[in-house]
Amino acid sequence: MQVIESVAVFRKAHAVAAKPLGLVPTMGFLHEGHMALIHRARKENGTVAVSIFVNPTQFGPSEDFETYPRDMDADLAHLDDAGVDLVFAPPIEEVYPLGFDTFVDVGRVGERLEGQHRTGHFRGVATIVCKLLTIVRPDRAYFGQKDAQQCLVVKRLNADLNLGAEIVVCPTVRDPDGLALSSRNVYLSRSEREAALSLHRSLTLARQLHSQGENDADMVKRRMGELITAYPAANIDYISIADAENLTELDIIDRPALVSLAVRIGRTRLIDNVIL
Ligand code: PAF
Repeated sequence: MQVIESVAVFRKAHAVAAKPLGLVPTMGFLHEGHMALIHRARKENGTVAVSIFVNPTQFGPSEDFETYPRDMDADLAHLDDAGVDLVFAPPIEEVYPLGFDTFVDVGRVGERLEGQHRTGHFRGVATIVCKLLTIVRPDRAYFGQKDAQQCLVVKRLNADLNLGAEIVVCPTVRDPDGLALSSRNVYLSRSEREAALSLHRSLTLARQLHSQGENDADMVKRRMGELITAYPAANIDYISIADAENLTELDIIDRPALVSLAVRIGRTRLIDNVIL
């Protein structure tokens, strides 16, 4: 496994790498969700590259960039065990050198939900993903469905800017009790972790109500909200039922719908979703 910090060295490694090349972009502190993407990439590609970069431009000023969990040594050990070929782990100044002044302006798909609650987040995500796809030049890039809106933003970006990768979206990986894996779960105390189960439980309720014939989106959202607010530690940022392709909010669930939510558990903000 080759660990590379510079764009120039990565370009040389790309030139001699077996193709197709699969990229798993990450911010490190790897968990089984990331590893599922890596195992899938390993099966489908001649070379597997993983990027580790905590991207400052996708964090708001009051968010957790400084404290975001990091453990490079453990990450590299996991990646080596998983048979990863190339790790791209650049320092900040390699990605955003002095004078850096160009960002990707994300369109409508990034405006609502996370885009509305985290101003500038998708501008930062689209900019770094654009840079990673042009530096690493993968044939395929792998993303997790837990970040459903990010997947839509990345697909749009890849198509609109002709970046040429196949974007592969993989299912959310959950703990046995349903909690979606996230690097931020490490922030949760024992009691907060219990409250964090309200996200998956409310999504399961939405699925149940819909399968019983409930198509009124407000009714489903109300019932989800009641379930979540029964946990005193949980504060809802949003609950949305939207067209799964363009994220327009639905009144009636009459087409494939993305049910998504963001909930603050203490100081930890968690997101999750299901497709109906
Ligand atoms: O999902 C993430 O971990 C990040 O948003 C990504 C795609 C690596 C960009 O920094």
